[in-house]
Amino acid sequence: MSNRPVLRSLLLAMLLAACGRSDAPAAATPGTARAAPAAPSAFDADRWQPPTEADIPNDSLGASIRRGLALVVHTTDSLPRYAPGHITCSNCHIAAGQSADASPFWGVHGRYPRYIDRAGAVVTMVDRVNYCFTRSLAGRKLPGDSREMADILAYIAFLSRGVPVGARARGGLPAMRDTLVGDTLRGGATFRTTCATCHGPDGQGSPTVPALWGPRSYSVGASMAREERAASFIWHNMPLGKPKSLTAQQAFDVAAFVNSHPRPDLPGKERDWPGGKSPADVPYDLRSGHKAYRAPRMLVARTDAEAVVAAPARARR
Ligand code: HEC
Ligand code: HEC
Repeated sequence: MSNRPVLRSLLLAMLLAACGRSDAPAAATPGTARAAPAAPSAFDADRWQPPTEADIPNDSLGASIRRGLALVVHTTDSLPRYAPGHITCSNCHIAAGQSADASPFWGVHGRYPRYIDRAGAVVTMVDRVNYCFTRSLAGRKLPGDSREMADILAYIAFLSRGVPVGARARGGLPAMRDTLVGDTLRGGATFRTTCATCHGPDGQGSPTVPALWGPRSYSVGASMAREERAASFIWHNMPLGKPKSLTAQQAFDVAAFVNSHPRPDLPGKERDWPGGKSPADVPYDLRSGHKAYRAPRMLVARTDAEAVVAAPARARR
């Protein structure tokens, strides 16, 4: 007895199933665009839907993406040598880089390598992630060839799916009106009524809330140490659960108050913005002539050469 007809119909069934399957995910996951990559100008940032955790594939890449997600949420527990403070990636890139108003990781992958004025150099994604390790976490550079760096990059690349190279997805940390100037006295009053319940009267946070200043918070070289960047983050995201409830002036006031406190130093910071064009609110002196804007008192003179910031001068613009 031959079972060839059975085999043939089985094959046919498998073929049909396979064809069906190849169409199904496109319909089920609108975030993962299957069409040929569009030119950046044709990309509609408002209609683009970021992928969700349900879109993470169940394969080796998916495992790496999941590890990257865990690392940006549990940075201090997972990488204590590189993130020694009381602050994690997702404390600022809220919801693990999936919150539109807190500098999301969406589309970031396709914007690197790029020229950064602060470094005066073309930097890679690895360099950019390491700026946040050394500056925002006041920690150490994660080796570029480590599995952990590959995992973080895999996660950022996953969240960037469907965004053409060079294009911007929606969200960011929008510029605030730079005519506003914070008042530390008024900021202190706002801090006590609106922030201290969670971040503590001494700004050191709690087991579940990150530190705003002191040795375990972000360094003086972090973007968050700039008054306008901090005001934008605070206005768009804080107090947690009631974002956009402060006035813009209150956000500048409390940003000025937070950033007036001591925090970790950053060796090499004077080499930032080597070509000039530094923003007005950079809180330290620069070799290019900029004078510190409200320099905080620095707590730790860090000596770890690994942590030095300025990228080596690669391809110059
Ligand atoms: C103290 C807050 C803070 C922490 C902690 C932090 N970041 Fe950032 N990060 C920022 C800010 C602010 C920016 C710049 C946003 C801007 O000015 O547009 C940024 C930018 C970035 C960028 C570049 C985004 C772009 O659009 O080019 C990447 C990638 C990034 N961070 C990854 C990380 C990772 C990974 C970690 C943890 C290792 C981390 N960050 C920790 C605040 C933080
Ligand atoms: C309800 C509790 C709560 C309140 C109130 C609150 N925060 Fe936060 N804040 C948090 C938590 C939690 C995070 C980390 C967010 C996350 O991981 O999702 C955070 C993160 C931050 C960060 C970035 C991380 C860091 O440590 O620098 C800043 C800056 C900040 N808050 C400032 C403020 C300011 C200023 C106020 C008052 C206007 C405020 N927060 C009010 C809970 C709060």
